[in-house]
Amino acid sequence: MTQDEQKRAVAAAAIQHIPIGSIVGVGTGSTANYFIDELAKIKHKIEGAVASSEASAQRLKSHDIDVYDLNNIDDLPVYVDGADEITENLHMVKGGGGALTREKIVAAVARKFICITDQSKLVNVLGNFPLPIEVIPMARSFVAREIVLLGGQPALRQGFTTDNGNVILDIHALQIMNPVELETTLNQITGVVTNGLFARRCANTLLLGTDDGVREITF
Ligand code: A5P
Repeated sequence: MTQDEQKRAVAAAAIQHIPIGSIVGVGTGSTANYFIDELAKIKHKIEGAVASSEASAQRLKSHDIDVYDLNNIDDLPVYVDGADEITENLHMVKGGGGALTREKIVAAVARKFICITDQSKLVNVLGNFPLPIEVIPMARSFVAREIVLLGGQPALRQGFTTDNGNVILDIHALQIMNPVELETTLNQITGVVTNGLFARRCANTLLLGTDDGVREITF
């Protein structure tokens, strides 16, 4: 299967995990877009969705799926989203699309996080994909200096503003041996809104697209 076929296959497989009548948390990116298109096929069986980005909200609305404000939801059974890297114990790097903060908020509320990716995203050690950090604009240079002290090489994502009006620093040259610890450390830097490590709240299930079909990993 091509990478695109794997993304479509895991998006379709995720539908089996959606409880009837529920509000569904929906992520961001090309794999999440395939999931939205699959969700549209069963839209009469769900109440609606919560989106982790303006782009996903627009796509959901284009399919006539009701998009709810997260503040008006008290129960979110499941959140479905892609990842830029994921390990066998379901720690992830996310934020390649710049939606990491809203993704982390929706993931925090959800009872279950189902990650859908093609096999290229499965890694032994996180960090080859540059780790995104959302930063308040006036703190950009300070945060970048702090990251250099931690051994990373930050690069400002050019011409990009998040849905929250902030900037993204992509950290290169990290070998992330302890994702939970690094996630906490980065969160302590003043001016950091969120970092793209999803280790403290990792996925519950990975649906991985492979040449042999969809492999399910639950940790
Ligand atoms: C969006 O901000 C990211 O966290 C995405 O989940 C990630 O970039 C995966 O995107 P693709 O499905 O396009 O690979």
